[in-house]
Amino acid sequence: MRISYPTDLLAAVKKATVGCRLTGFTPGQGPRHPKLMLIGEAPGRHEAKVNVPFSGAAGRELMKLVGLIGYSRQDVYITSVVRQRPYSVKVVKDRRTGQLVKKTPNRTPTKAEVRAFAPLFDWELQYVAPQILVPLGNTALQRLLGNQARIGQLHGQPIEAPIQKATSADTGYRWTKRKYRLFPMYHPAALLYARRLEPVIRDDWQRLGKYLRENK
Ligand code: URA
Repeated sequence: MRISYPTDLLAAVKKATVGCRLTGFTPGQGPRHPKLMLIGEAPGRHEAKVNVPFSGAAGRELMKLVGLIGYSRQDVYITSVVRQRPYSVKVVKDRRTGQLVKKTPNRTPTKAEVRAFAPLFDWELQYVAPQILVPLGNTALQRLLGNQARIGQLHGQPIEAPIQKATSADTGYRWTKRKYRLFPMYHPAALLYARRLEPVIRDDWQRLGKYLRENK
């Protein structure tokens, strides 16, 4: 299922991101009331083109990990804390032709961009109502648990805690009254640039599989 977001929330995001280098719009995807909601950082170039979350190189790694615990793409809800592709603008010399060319590589979203999308994410979380939140990497983890949280410390274990929710009046967050179940994981893109993490990441996902079997 492809989610359709409330138009007033989309308009608020648009207003809050004026002047930001963001492009495309990739909606979250998956069933409502799933066991797992996988939460990434922001769409990359491939996702922004085809509008399917985690459909590029990092997505292929993610789907292998999801397969390790006996799930498939259809079983999980997939989204990210920012729904547009953040890019930067670089002018570089083309090695072959010597011409100056403009490049627009992906970049990590800023905290202000994450906050601009926060009401949309909060709505999505409530609408989808997953049992367990799986933040992938520091951007998603810190959106939920605050800037002090570190994926290097919290990966591969269950956590029950309040999460941050956007306040309606200003540009901050407040803590939810209820606790959520989380199982933080390294971002699957880490497998593309830090292969040494592969055994750790696989072990984390095996732990999640075990946790799911033991906590039906
Ligand atoms: N990285 C993310 O965080 N989300 C995607 O959809 C793709 C790459």
